[in-house]
Amino acid sequence: PGESARAHRHTPTAIRFIMEGEGAYTAVDGERVYMRPGDLILTPSWAWHDHGNETDKPVVWMDGLDVPLVQFMNAMFFQLYDDRLYPLTKPNNASVQLHGHVSLQPTWVKERAPASPLLLYSWDATWRSLRALWDATGDEHDGIALEYTHPQTGRSVLPTMACWIQMLRPGERTMAHRHTGSAVYYVAQGTGESIIDGCRFPWSKGDIITLPSWALHEHANGSTKDAAVLFSIQDRPVLDALGLYREEAFTENGGNQAVRSTFAAS
Ligand SMILES: [Fe+2]
Ligand SMILES: [Fe+2]
Repeated sequence: PGESARAHRHTPTAIRFIMEGEGAYTAVDGERVYMRPGDLILTPSWAWHDHGNETDKPVVWMDGLDVPLVQFMNAMFFQLYDDRLYPLTKPNNASVQLHGHVSLQPTWVKERAPASPLLLYSWDATWRSLRALWDATGDEHDGIALEYTHPQTGRSVLPTMACWIQMLRPGERTMAHRHTGSAVYYVAQGTGESIIDGCRFPWSKGDIITLPSWALHEHANGSTKDAAVLFSIQDRPVLDALGLYREEAFTENGGNQAVRSTFAAS
């Protein structure tokens, strides 16, 4: 409460997924977007940004950055802004007004930036999209998996990182597969488990699970009543661009891994 982060910019790209609380903001290039639980907020590479919480309650979010990639490429730059806050030049939530409409794009906006021009993807719209697909077949490896997309190009929201939201319906267990590219999952809703290279990772709302490249994985919803929802960030756009994306289904054992151990958080 009352905290703010000084305005700055850096070449690593960032995403934020709101875990708890509401009413804090991120300002990106002069536009403030206000947070609610389950919202996804983008901060493209080299965009001025600051954060603040003017409410009297804590607001908690998960940050995801492509720091290791940028470091590996020797392209790390960071700059503090002269003032504490970057000047506001746009109305609050302006990008949501302009780009936050399903398949309806403003024709007069000609600029096509590599990062999505929409800064905030609201939980309400995300959950509505998932619910609408409750009876769909989905993917045998990923369940009802939706990718947040760049509204103008239909591509990943950021050039180096893709964001996904996956719903596992009551009792649903996916088939195992593996692919290049790593992922970080955040359990947005529900309880269940992921089996990663034979190790069982039980999870519930609020947990974070990391998936290394080329590790076998499958996910299961532990509830027979409620949906489980996994948010994830993935570096797949980089692997796609470099021709290094590769995927393989697990075919032994009926498509599900034998569990050899269970992860215990210490
Ligand atoms: Fe930052
Ligand atoms: Fe996968």
